[in-house]
Amino acid sequence: MTRVLLTGATGQIGRWVLHELAGRPDVELVLALRDPARQCSELAAWLAGHGVVLARPLQALAFDLDRPQGAAALVQAARPDVVVHLAARFAWGLAPADAQRANVQTSVALLRALAGSRTSLDAVHEVANQAESVEAATSDADRAGHSDHVDTRSAGVAAPWQGGAPARFIHVSGFMLQHRAHLRRLGIGEDGQARGPGGWAAIYRRAGGYEASKLHAHAEMTRTARELGQPLVVLHPATVAGHSGHGELPEHAALHQLCRQLARGRLGAIPGGAAYRLPLVAVDFVARFIAGVVRDAAVQGGEYLLMDAASPPLPQLVQHLADALGRPAPRRTLPIGLLRALLRLPGVAALAGTHPESLDFLVRDVAFDTAAADRLAARWGLAHPPLEQVLRQTAGYVGRQGACAEPGQRQGDTAGGPDLSTGPT
Ligand SMILES: NC(=O)c1ccc[n+]([C@@H]2O[C@H](COP(=O)([O-])OP(=O)(O)OC[C@H]3O[C@@H](n4cnc5c(N)ncnc54)[C@H](OP(=O)(O)O)[C@@H]3O)[C@@H](O)[C@H]2O)c1
Repeated sequence: MTRVLLTGATGQIGRWVLHELAGRPDVELVLALRDPARQCSELAAWLAGHGVVLARPLQALAFDLDRPQGAAALVQAARPDVVVHLAARFAWGLAPADAQRANVQTSVALLRALAGSRTSLDAVHEVANQAESVEAATSDADRAGHSDHVDTRSAGVAAPWQGGAPARFIHVSGFMLQHRAHLRRLGIGEDGQARGPGGWAAIYRRAGGYEASKLHAHAEMTRTARELGQPLVVLHPATVAGHSGHGELPEHAALHQLCRQLARGRLGAIPGGAAYRLPLVAVDFVARFIAGVVRDAAVQGGEYLLMDAASPPLPQLVQHLADALGRPAPRRTLPIGLLRALLRLPGVAALAGTHPESLDFLVRDVAFDTAAADRLAARWGLAHPPLEQVLRQTAGYVGRQGACAEPGQRQGDTAGGPDLSTGPT
């Protein structure tokens, strides 16, 4: 029996990880949710609607990413063999301090708590010290809302249930961590740490809160795991597309946004043109891969890039989606630099329904290395579903939701890749 603590089960990836694991009698799941009773019953209904027969009733504990000081008690209550950490503050325009607290401090606090070899309080203090430099770069208005203090009562938690093999931590990062040139441009060294003047605060300014916090979390998670000898498996998904079988994906997903823009005829031009790609992966592949790591105790570490090598150049991607939606694809292209500059003009990003941060997820001339992930996938008999099918299903799903109706776009729409919209044209 493997006991799994899963954060972010309600998210785009988390639901499908749950789908993979909830019916398995050899897996005992504990979900970490903001509102356990309500979200558990919603997830149980969603699973039932997707044909999953639960191996046991869902159980959940309260968890808030914005409270790193709660991590130790959560891990102690759940007593997991494996932590799958998917929860993240995932939006454009996040204040650096908010992104840092949720995506860096809480991840490290969970990892420390699992290792149990030092007090989780030490961990929170350590990362909180770095937070001060990040916070110093934010505006006074931002700072005013961030007066959380560490709860000293959570100190001294060990992990007494870890009698045999050490518990494993599966951290979900992002594919930009495998884009070395991009990391160098931002001022991140080969060791993953901030190198340039201004340290992490400068990187938060350059990359934006979400992306910077993912890069920062990766640096802190790998450093901490090494220091503690804690098994850490890091997964780097590309931008996640819908389910290969029926296209399902949430409204806040990047491809959902792109399909909506196409369906409404609001994508006036393609950013960058044919030299650019938006690397993609189907959500069911990601979920099965995560389930594979959970079930294969031989996987004790390493970094795995989850990306479909068939991800097409941007114009082709847009054409596939437009065809599936029965809409024309734009022919014009717009240089990325110009688009970025336009989106930084006051009011333009809001008008266009996108954010300059989204453009960082478009890449060109990058040879990504998926060999390590491919080897594991092959060992488990897992293959990427055909990407054309994934795109057709994804667009079909968005189309069936009535995407042509004007806007239901969520405030502060989520990150994960660009929506590529260039505004009303
Ligand atoms: N999707 C992608 O394209 C992509 C690509 C690369 C990496 N990733 C990474 O993969 C992970 C999962 O992504 P996703 O697409 O599944 O994200 P998502 O759909 O945005 O879901 C985010 C999850 O985090 C939870 N969460 C947010 N704020 C929270 C808080 N304050 N306390 C507790 N839980 C909170 C959400 O729970 P609620 O339902 O309560 O809001 C939700 O379950 C993230 O680390 C993300 O950075 C995603």
